Amino acid sequence: MGLIVLGPLIQCVGGPRDRRLEIVPHACIHVGNDGVIESIEAGHHTHTDSEVSVLPTDSMTHYNSPDPQQQHTVVTVQWPQFIVPGFVDLHLHAPQLPQAGTQMHVPLETWLRETTIPREARFGNVEWAQKVWQKLVRKTLSNGTSTAVYFASKHAQSALLLAEECLQRGQRAFVGKVCMDNKDMCLCQATAQKDSSVSLSEPCVCTESTQESVEETRHFIQEMASLHNTQTNNNDPLVQAVITPRFVPSCSPELLTKLGQLTQEYKIHVQSHAWESDWQVLYGEETRNARDLDIFLSHNLVSPKGTVLAHAVHANDSEITRLAETGVGVAHCPLSNAFFANGIMPARLMLDAGVAVGLGTDIGGAWSASILDSCRQAITSSRILRDGVGKLRGGKPCEHAAEINHIDAFWMATVGGALALGRKGGIQVGAKFDALVIDVENESNIDYFHELDTPEDLFQKFVALGDDRNIRQVFVDGKCVLAK
Ligand code: GUN
Ligand code: FE
Repeated sequence: MGLIVLGPLIQCVGGPRDRRLEIVPHACIHVGNDGVIESIEAGHHTHTDSEVSVLPTDSMTHYNSPDPQQQHTVVTVQWPQFIVPGFVDLHLHAPQLPQAGTQMHVPLETWLRETTIPREARFGNVEWAQKVWQKLVRKTLSNGTSTAVYFASKHAQSALLLAEECLQRGQRAFVGKVCMDNKDMCLCQATAQKDSSVSLSEPCVCTESTQESVEETRHFIQEMASLHNTQTNNNDPLVQAVITPRFVPSCSPELLTKLGQLTQEYKIHVQSHAWESDWQVLYGEETRNARDLDIFLSHNLVSPKGTVLAHAVHANDSEITRLAETGVGVAHCPLSNAFFANGIMPARLMLDAGVAVGLGTDIGGAWSASILDSCRQAITSSRILRDGVGKLRGGKPCEHAAEINHIDAFWMATVGGALALGRKGGIQVGAKFDALVIDVENESNIDYFHELDTPEDLFQKFVALGDDRNIRQVFVDGKCVLAK
């Protein structure tokens, strides 16, 4: 059954270089059976500076469906409720939900070796994995994440269960079984090196052998393909496998080569971390005599389907140009970067260079599963990047001084994330209808004054103050998957 959605539509449109706000006071959106948007009509406007009025509900009965034979469900959204595109969380770690909000006071390397990677080893237990996956998928959907790009754990079986959970709840998801064969990146080996009384003969349960990593990845991709056969939309399945080398320090050159071969064989997405912190960049330079993008390119780890590199804080100017040229997307994770990155990613510079930049919560390198929090932190971090510690305290403004605003942040949270995945972003003809109905009138942080607030004011308030209480309905693939 098709869907017709009537109501005010607010979104950010355009490409990385020309992001802009679009407000359609009375949009009529037609969605086909396959979840694809067939047409968007602007309807009649009665738009003044301070008020938007909408078609009365009964006007739907006069509405001519494009195909009278086709049955449609009609959804009407009344101002000050409005429709926006669903959020894309371009980077998060599913097994890190239980630790989110803790252990963020230690450096990245310690956090990974001593807390994060050992904790992920527990996700071989499928009951534990399922308990966490259920909580996380419910939580991200409730926060408006209609598309999530997940790092699962190194266990193919648990990664598959995450994909099944997303499929069952109706969240669009790109799921990776994490690959990591470097045993130096875990607590048991680090402890053994520091303390000679600890025996190295114990097998490391945190990482995996090169062969295991490759075989489990192949197995995961094949199992995901059989999951696709059960989906109605199998030319664009709701859940898809992603090749996931954790990051350069976790992966031997041999593992990267083999994962590059799998990428070319299966032509699926790739994700990893790049240029995240001083330590991480130096690790590549010192041990491989190369930097991240060169390493991924030279191992064929750039996919025609879409490649997402998380962080990119320390990418230099020529690397930024090459990201744009090679179509490699960046997941900007500003909250996590404030703790682990030793820097701020120059988001505006990257957008102006034409890079497909989306936003990632990076759970649990950050505490919030809300992409709205990522929007706010992206805006705040960009202001700090622009002004630094302030001229009067001897600070120098950053060369990449331009900040990003609410429109840029929302663009990244929706269109930018989709482009990084090689998809059409936002609410436009030919894209899947992945959308949210926003409500500002229930108990929440947003105070709406209809006497004063223009639609743009209300949109800006939503970006600055909104949370899961303002998200009334979540649509994915043209279906309402959450209503509250
Ligand atoms: N680099 C490699 N693994 C991780 C991770 O789990 N989180 C973050 N923030 N960086 C990483
Ligand atoms: Fe991460």
